[in-house]
Amino acid sequence: MTAPDIRPEYAERLIRSRKAVRAFRSDPIPDHTMRAIFALAGTAPSNSNTQPWTVHVVSGAARDRLSEALLEAHAHQRLSVDFPYRDEHYNDLHRQRRRDFGESMYAALGIARDDLPARAAHNAESLRFYGAPHVALLCAPADADARMTADIGMYGQTLLLAMTAYGIASCPQGLLGFYGNTIRETLHIRDTKVLFGVSFGYARDQAPVNNLAIPRAALHETTRFHD
Ligand SMILES: Cc1cc2nc3c(=O)[nH]c(=O)nc-3n(C[C@H](O)[C@H](O)[C@H](O)COP(=O)(O)O)c2cc1C
Repeated sequence: MTAPDIRPEYAERLIRSRKAVRAFRSDPIPDHTMRAIFALAGTAPSNSNTQPWTVHVVSGAARDRLSEALLEAHAHQRLSVDFPYRDEHYNDLHRQRRRDFGESMYAALGIARDDLPARAAHNAESLRFYGAPHVALLCAPADADARMTADIGMYGQTLLLAMTAYGIASCPQGLLGFYGNTIRETLHIRDTKVLFGVSFGYARDQAPVNNLAIPRAALHETTRFHD
């Protein structure tokens, strides 16, 4: 059943206006907005309503400590990838899309393709959460399987849309999941794996990197209708 006051154009505007933001202002978001967003995100669907996510929202001094610890782990190449990343899982088409995205993003940042030091500096900036005052870490139980990670993906998009509705910008960051041990040690948490993080706050609207138009595949390329 659809709520009578929900109109398709609202969903079109909400869903299409969400985008990954990679330059934030430092001012924090108010507590009541924070609570509203995370309460809304918690309405995400999950297998048999198991809600297997645990979310750690990190702000203030804890956020600064976490960023410093991540930068140090990065400098010493201390990676601990909770959900291993395998390049061979991506086919040629996926790789082409990834290349196209990288080219648009680095062009907006004014970074040349072969400028490895500048790319490394950008990676480091992402461990400063692109300047965002908050980061949410979306975690799964330590023995999570693919089904549970699907639930956490559902939570993730619900969270991003809730943020968009409240005027809060966000960037989902799989890279943060490459530093599981650093995150657990710094936040004193255990029995959990980090799937990805979401940096969030108010966007620096003028930053060129926040004005990328990342295209999507045409409907017929991804979706088949069977009659
Ligand atoms: C699970 C997940 C992980 C991501 N990891 C990163 C990341 O580590 N760093 C980053 O800058 N963007 C990351 N992104 C953002 C994507 O690059 C972005 O969503 C995609 O290019 C489409 O652009 P749009 O979100 O602006 O529409 C991630 C997105 C998702 C859903």
